Order: sequence, then C-alpha cells, then structure tokens
Amino acid sequence: MTKFVCVTSGKRGVGKTTTSINLAAALHNMGEDVLLVDGDLLNPKVHKQFGNNESSISLYDALEDNSELYKIIHKHKSGLRIIPTNVTLNRAKNLDLDKFKNSLTKLTKQASTIIIDTSSSLEEEAIAVIEASDEVLVVTNPINESMPGTLNIIKKLEEMKKTVLGVVVNQNRKLREQSDHEISLFLETPIISSISFDKNFEKSREQFHPIVHSHPKSKASKDFNNLALKLQ
Ligand SMILES: Nc1ncnc2c1ncn2[C@@H]1O[C@H](COP(=O)(O)OP(=O)(O)OP(=O)(O)O)[C@@H](O)[C@H]1O
Ligand SMILES: [Mg+2]
Repeated sequence: MTKFVCVTSGKRGVGKTTTSINLAAALHNMGEDVLLVDGDLLNPKVHKQFGNNESSISLYDALEDNSELYKIIHKHKSGLRIIPTNVTLNRAKNLDLDKFKNSLTKLTKQASTIIIDTSSSLEEEAIAVIEASDEVLVVTNPINESMPGTLNIIKKLEEMKKTVLGVVVNQNRKLREQSDHEISLFLETPIISSISFDKNFEKSREQFHPIVHSHPKSKASKDFNNLALKLQ
C-alpha cells in the first residue's frame, strides 16, 4: 500500500524542503520505490535544488489541464522521481484545493512511499497536503523560538487524527538551546531524528544534488540515511 508522508513545521525556514529532498533521496538510494512531491504551493523550492528551470512543466500545469499528476513526473539524474511545482501569483490565487487533494490521492500506485514537502504549518494550502497524507514528520530547530509554533502544529495534527511519525530536530550544533530530551518532553512527542548543521548544503545546492548524493560522508547525510532507515 502506498504511504503518503508529508513534511511540515510550525515555523518557516526550519528545513522542511531540505528534509523532504534528502529523505526521498536517501530512500531512493536504499532501493525504495519513492516519489518526491513539491506540495509547497506558495513558495515551492524543490525544483531549484534539482536545477529545473522555472518554466518546466509542473504541478500547477497538470491541475490547470485537468491532467493526472503522474504524467508530469520528472526524473533527476540520480533516478529519483519528482513532481515539481512552479507558482505564479495568479496560479496561487486560482488554486482549487479540493482538486489538488484529489490529484494527490490519485498518485497511489505510483510509488510505495510518497514524500510531500509543504509550506508552513497552518496555512490552508499546507493543511490540504496534511489532509491528503497518512503520516507526518514535523521539522523543528533546537531553539526556544521554534517551540511554540511546533507545539501548535502538533496539536493541530492530533485534532486532525494524523499519525505523527516524530519530530525531526534539524540544524543541530554542539551548543544548542534545547536538547532532544527537552524538546521531546515539551512537545510530548518522540524525536525520530536529529540532523546535524552542515556547511556542505550550500555546495550541494550549487551542484543541483541532494547532500546525500553530493556529500555522502557528511554528518547530515549520515543523519538523513538514519532517518530513511526508520521509514523503510
Ligand atoms: N542541517 C542543515 N545544516 C545547514 N543548513 C541547513 C540545514 N537544513 C537546512 N539548511 C538551510 O536552511 C535554509 C532553509 O532550509 P529549507 O528551505 O529546507 O527550510 P524550509 O522549512 O523548507 O523553509 P520554508 O518554510 O521557507 O519552506 C536553506 O538555506 C537550507 O540550505
Ligand atoms: Mg520549504
């Protein structure tokens, strides 16, 4: 059965897109049948990491043409399959969220695991992705400022009766404001993975590869591989 796993957060910029891309790439490297969907309908970034240009065919084109999403699956040179999203103001304004959710659901059978990036937390575009998903990863950073928003989204996910796979604590450095234990206690949710802060992300972006491909021995790559093992 196909598993829809979305990656969300209670705060912007904590590493949802980075996590979605590298988790999908790590699963692909392990031989999993995985599809990565850019479900950030407002500020999509997945295509940028893979070097696709802004005009290449994407999710909004399929929605506007009433065409099925599987028809616009792109294959990255690594073999990872991706549904990218490019947005313009008009497109975002005219988006039919029910149609979007229906299209997502129809991706069943395209892969065993579908990883979906989202925009931040409680925006209706993000909620639509969460509604269409079975399981959720919540990304946060180990800083005090990130905690209230993270708690809010976890409460919302509980209300929505979604399975929270756990919290991904991203951008870990030696000196951090909150330990995994403290975060887990505060959020009353287990930490599924901690991802190291890694300077190689910048270089991986320049190479249009996820860090698990461009720097497979880096700390963050090992952390993403460990996360992928837990999702297998
Ligand atoms: N573990 C890490 N180490 C170093 N830099 C990181 C790490 N994780 C993410 N970053 C960097 O932080 C920035 C934000 O990451 P990302 O775009 O994945 O966040 P996001 O949650 O998707 O943001 P948004 O809410 O805008 O969609 C990027 O420049 C990314 O390269
Ligand atoms: Mg993002």
